[in-house]
Amino acid sequence: MADQPLVLGIETSCDETGVGLVRGHTLLADTIASSVEEHARFGGVVPEVASRAHLEAMAPTVERALQRAGVRFADIDAVAVTAGPGLAGALLVGVAAAKAYALGLGVPLYGVNHLAAHVAVDQLEHGALPKPCIAMLVSGGHSSLLLVPDVAKEVIPLGSTVDDAAGEAFDKVARVLGLPFPGGPHIDRAATEGSGGAIAFPRGKYDDGTLDFSFSGLKTAVARWVEARERAGEPVPLADVAASFQEAVVDVLTRKALQACRRHGVRDLLIGGGVAANSRLRALARERCEAAGVRLRVPRPGLCTDNGAMVAALGSELAAAGVSPSGLDIPADSSLPITAIHM
Ligand code: KG4
Ligand code: ZN
Repeated sequence: MADQPLVLGIETSCDETGVGLVRGHTLLADTIASSVEEHARFGGVVPEVASRAHLEAMAPTVERALQRAGVRFADIDAVAVTAGPGLAGALLVGVAAAKAYALGLGVPLYGVNHLAAHVAVDQLEHGALPKPCIAMLVSGGHSSLLLVPDVAKEVIPLGSTVDDAAGEAFDKVARVLGLPFPGGPHIDRAATEGSGGAIAFPRGKYDDGTLDFSFSGLKTAVARWVEARERAGEPVPLADVAASFQEAVVDVLTRKALQACRRHGVRDLLIGGGVAANSRLRALARERCEAAGVRLRVPRPGLCTDNGAMVAALGSELAAAGVSPSGLDIPADSSLPITAIHM
């Protein structure tokens, strides 16, 4: 193991300052500083607040990761950083820090794609990814289906949301229900007391033959349903609304993910991103994959939400594949396409 490079990974695309240390497929440290509480009262991430928080958290979070892994700066063989997609100002802090560490330590720099990193992270838990696999990434900023022949070399987009991301829908519906931000975990918890079949909410693009998603109609339908109840002076059955909304989302997600597997003759499905922490998504995906003879891989919840380990994992994969490092002049690209795995 010691002959594989020790990779420092830095993630700052949204509100989490994540630092990971990885050697091969072995996770040595995964430290996070989150500014989520500073955004909660605004009901969403405020870019300027996130950037400032990254700046303050960066060096201490790196120090903590080194301590936890029991290694020194001099042991680091490469630095990987999320170069995009994400919030421009937030990305910039991570990219600038990564360049400084790489230059100061005299080691190669890998500017990597945040979405590909969400795929690569699973290797830290479940070992080498099957080639190819289908990956479904569902988070606050993205909902995509990908065909992944090789996460270090080729990722092919199959479909994505045409409006809101899945996590965004969770966050907006939570707001309608008076639950705190970010809403996903609160809806997940509230739904355990309710019935997913209580209210028939619409399932956007269910049978349209594409591998795209749409969640904005669902979000509006939930808001209208709740408003109608309130106008009639009737109580809102929070648990049933949460469970029925959640069921509509995970029904479409799992259906399309398995359609993607079938269409491309792939028998391995990976689900990643913050929404992959959802208990009902994990359960329904397990059920449907089993029925379809598809093997399912979902990282543990802490590796599904944004973190530095995922960036280090992809950096480690790129180094192992002999991919040329990035120049020290790479930009942060807020709309980096998934086909660009590294810069
Ligand atoms: O991947 P992530 O940490 O950040 C982005 O790249 O967006 O995902 C955050 C999103 C939020 O929208 C949050 O509400 C959602 O993931 N989320 C969940 C759960 N945990 C986090 N959604 C549904 N159920 C959960 N248990
Ligand atoms: Zn993410």
